[in-house]
Amino acid sequence: RRKFKHVLPGEHVYEDILFFGYTPPDILDAVKDFEIRNDDVIIATYPKAGTTWLQEITWLIMNDANFEEARQTQVYFRSPFLEFKDTVLNEVGIELANPMKSPRVIKSHLPVKLMPKQIHEKPCKIMVLFRNPKDLCVSYYHFYRSSSSFGKFTGTWDNFFEMFMEGQVDHGSWFDYTQSWWDIKDQDNVKIFFYEDMKEDLAREVEKMCQFLNKPLSREIITKIANHCQFESMKKNPMTNHLDVYSINSKVSPFLRKGTVGDWKDHFTVTQNERFDKLYNDILGTYLIPFKYTL
Ligand code: A3P
Repeated sequence: RRKFKHVLPGEHVYEDILFFGYTPPDILDAVKDFEIRNDDVIIATYPKAGTTWLQEITWLIMNDANFEEARQTQVYFRSPFLEFKDTVLNEVGIELANPMKSPRVIKSHLPVKLMPKQIHEKPCKIMVLFRNPKDLCVSYYHFYRSSSSFGKFTGTWDNFFEMFMEGQVDHGSWFDYTQSWWDIKDQDNVKIFFYEDMKEDLAREVEKMCQFLNKPLSREIITKIANHCQFESMKKNPMTNHLDVYSINSKVSPFLRKGTVGDWKDHFTVTQNERFDKLYNDILGTYLIPFKYTL
């Protein structure tokens, strides 16, 4: 099993997975018993896979492209973050989700074993979003730099790279996470999408999402959703750009940072790349997950 060399102030380990204070143990306990509804849509992602992007799209699909409402309410209030508890603002994901009207679009970064037990019993829809782990790791590094949620991280890229390889980051090992969701990908109510496919042709992917969600929308509306959810539009949109989130210092690195495929090439050294590939192949090599590292 994974050995934790250190637990920094604000970190804790729950069932062998590292978490920061905004996901305390009592919340993780409560999430397991969280009541799922048949018409819930779950957005299941490891941090930095493009969660917010998929939340905005999915919320619009499930709410008949209600752009007016989407322009009025923050995405994180329309689509609650299940295992989140902010002690400063007293914002609790479960408490937001419980009274919410259906259909709910619920975000979680948890691996399968920590998800609500009822996801295996109810026919809710689960949209898993994967992103190639090299770009994801770079994105996570910049998020650690800018967010005060992670013990005010002041380390270097090299430090973060080691932490990521060892799974010593918030929400634990990306490798374990990915394995857990890939293992249940053939269930009828689970569908995996890829960040890179969305970058390649967003309207095509939105259409696939509509099909999976049984929400057929016209070509015209799909194009409107795709336009509303382009990187530059979401970066300008105060309901999606997170400029108001007190714990993120956008001057260090904005939440909508680059939104590209292949930024890892400007961060990974040749040796880091070789080590990453080796670890990937050792753990996930036989899984044949079609990640794209460049477009
Ligand atoms: P970068 O740091 O590479 O720019 P999450 O929402 O899971 O935290 O993911 C954040 C990442 O998704 C960031 O990646 C962010 O820029 C990217 N992202 C968010 N909205 C996007 C969009 N509309 N198009 C492309 N990338 C987007």
